[in-house]
Amino acid sequence: MARESIPEPDQPGYPPVLIPEVAVRRRVRELGRGIARAHDARKQDDAQLVLLGVLNGAFMFTADLVRAIDRPAIVDFIRARSYGAARASSGTVTLELPPELDLAGKHVLVVEDVLDTGRTLGAIRDRLAASGAAVIEAVTLLRKPKATVGAEYIGFEIDDRFVVGYGLDEAGRWRHLPYVGYLDDDVR
Ligand code: XMP
Ligand code: MG
Repeated sequence: MARESIPEPDQPGYPPVLIPEVAVRRRVRELGRGIARAHDARKQDDAQLVLLGVLNGAFMFTADLVRAIDRPAIVDFIRARSYGAARASSGTVTLELPPELDLAGKHVLVVEDVLDTGRTLGAIRDRLAASGAAVIEAVTLLRKPKATVGAEYIGFEIDDRFVVGYGLDEAGRWRHLPYVGYLDDDVR
């Protein structure tokens, strides 16, 4: 079975588990249901739902979330860079938006993996402010304590530690893990 190729949490050499796979799945389903309900409640304005995933970290969350929302939705991606291979924010955010993206009148949901300082989401909100979108909201799977920019939907509030897995990486590693793990300073 394919499942056998998925690493077991707490294997030697793998990041320890912060949020187990089952908890991630359950929370993503809850978030999806809540977002669907809120979108349905706005049906009168008939706005098309657009999920804007933030690459690369939110690719897995976006894929699971759109299925959990279970409504017709456009899915597109923004590329945001504020981290290189290092674990500390560089402080500047560069954004690449799809050139054909037309958000006028749409219900836009920015899908983030983690809010650390919140600078990335802040830059995205600033950039989308003039897009003509009817609604701009954000969902983040994880939120660290020092985030100053909010998201309408939050999966988990976590401590200020470096997390990997479920799309999140350190220098390209660990994105494939089905759970959220963390890196201690002595783990590379
Ligand atoms: P800011 O500070 O702008 O950071 O909210 C958001 C972006 O930084 C990355 N980030 C992380 N990536 N583990 C990661 O793999 C982490 O613990 C982490 N904290 C922040 C991420 O790309 C996020 O979009
Ligand atoms: Mg990211």
